[in-house]
Amino acid sequence: MLRTALFTEQLVQAKINGISMAYHEEGSGAPIVFLHAFPLSRMMWAPQEPAFAPQFRIITVDLRGHGESDAPLWHYTLDQAADDVRGLLDHLSIRQAIFVGLSMGGYILFAFYRKYADRVKGMVLADTKAQADTDEGKQARFEMAQVAYKQGPNAVADIMVPKLLSSATIQTRPELVRRVRTMIEGNQVSGIAGDLMAMAGRADSLPLLNRITCPTHIIVGALDQPTPPSDAQLMADRIPNARLTVIPQAAHLSNLEQPGLFNDAVRSFVLNATR
Ligand code: MLT
Repeated sequence: MLRTALFTEQLVQAKINGISMAYHEEGSGAPIVFLHAFPLSRMMWAPQEPAFAPQFRIITVDLRGHGESDAPLWHYTLDQAADDVRGLLDHLSIRQAIFVGLSMGGYILFAFYRKYADRVKGMVLADTKAQADTDEGKQARFEMAQVAYKQGPNAVADIMVPKLLSSATIQTRPELVRRVRTMIEGNQVSGIAGDLMAMAGRADSLPLLNRITCPTHIIVGALDQPTPPSDAQLMADRIPNARLTVIPQAAHLSNLEQPGLFNDAVRSFVLNATR
């Protein structure tokens, strides 16, 4: 039922690091790999797939614990998520790609860059931040994991939707709100809790920033609260030659709230990086 509501693409899965990972691949040309946010799935890239597939080889993936990928009940880390992404690149025989990571997708990109910088041709860090969690932030992760465990993904959606979308979007775009909720509710508790543990345990990426040598673009919604424009500015100041695009009238999910502006920023970055 949920699958029919959300997934219109043919399901393609690969065995990576002992689990089944679902992904979508389309188009040809320079590869662009899109890494989604917490607690969503590859379906959050619905406005990007048709915009980029005519010109590029695009790959969207359900990260471990999400969507139609396996969500094993075990300890998750962002390094492991980075290893899964590397496994997918190997599976698809992609040597180097441009990566677009939004929020948790950005945290995974930092982990990926630390381990596999030679596989990164360029990166877009969208609505994300380099800092690790504070003690207070870790406590909030623990509390959300308990909500997921006791009340299920619907209760997580209740907490997350107001953090992900602007109040104007929530009031005036019920269809988008419904899509975001459906993505969240389609995830398993094991994956949600696993992600929360992984994000709570993630490394501080501030010391990495001035060592990033690939072309990098930062995008942030002007109304983003979980990863506000000040965090984006900090990354833009410290990553050599990075540029920053602030998207008006968008909160945390800037790719869904303002897909046209988001796509323009990504397209001009990718065209420059692959020239
Ligand atoms: C996300 O969108 O991936 C999350 O809001 C990130 C986080 O909770 O730190």
